[in-house]
Amino acid sequence: MTTTLITGANRGIGLEFCKQYLHEGHQVIACCREPEQADELQALAQDHIDQLELVALDITDDSQLSGLQDYLTGRQIDLLISNAGAYGPKGLPLGEYQAEHFEQVMAVNVTAPLMLVQSLMLHLAQGAKIALLSSKMGSITDNGSGGSYVYRASKSAINAIGKSLAIDLSPKGTCVTIFHPGWVQTDMGGPNALITTEVSVRGMRHVLEQSSLADSGKFLNYDGTELPW
Ligand SMILES: NC(=O)c1ccc[n+]([C@@H]2O[C@H](COP(=O)([O-])OP(=O)(O)OC[C@H]3O[C@@H](n4cnc5c(N)ncnc54)[C@H](OP(=O)(O)O)[C@@H]3O)[C@@H](O)[C@H]2O)c1
Repeated sequence: MTTTLITGANRGIGLEFCKQYLHEGHQVIACCREPEQADELQALAQDHIDQLELVALDITDDSQLSGLQDYLTGRQIDLLISNAGAYGPKGLPLGEYQAEHFEQVMAVNVTAPLMLVQSLMLHLAQGAKIALLSSKMGSITDNGSGGSYVYRASKSAINAIGKSLAIDLSPKGTCVTIFHPGWVQTDMGGPNALITTEVSVRGMRHVLEQSSLADSGKFLNYDGTELPW
């Protein structure tokens, strides 16, 4: 059975990954900050008692990452979805940025995914796959509208990290895919976003199914189209 670990699993794209992989028969380890408040995950757990595990994880908390390592003792992960993310200040004009605006977003979007992969490295099965949820906002080539300094910088940085992970983990056969999930109807994407979580996740699942080590380190749209850095 495929074991899949997902961060930020309580809502948005992470929750949809849980739903679809449960439907596919995966063993799902759903990590979120407050499992006891995660009503939709709790409801899913009722219907998938042995198949869905809820684990408390604030991805910026080192002690909780250690706790996750302990929880996984003796177990292997086939698919790691680093999904949790934060946007930071929206619509802030140039001139009003402050250093502190970067702290939380960089911690969640950049530092934490690397720490997560590092701490779970020994639990990755041979030929495991990692999906890093980035964004087209991190593409320097695609930036035609400026602004969003914090979010853009964080996603450019996770792209750089994803590329290095792909190279460094290739001897173990681990394939790393860096995704733009599309503009998706979630709390972050807002109601005017172009696609549903169902369409976004179905697309990324298909890409992950097809991916091999030769594709590792690519920056891909949810439909598999390669994106410029
Ligand atoms: N939606 C889009 O259009 C879009 C576009 C491009 C990229 N993305 C990326 O796709 C990913 C998922 O986005 P989304 O739209 O589903 O966002 P969302 O609806 O805002 O959900 C964000 C998720 O991240 C979790 N999270 C935030 N900080 C965390 C922390 N310190 N520890 C653990 N979990 C934390 C949230 O948990 P809480 O409920 O506890 O806050 C929530 O589960 C993100 O990486 C995002 O940047 C989204």
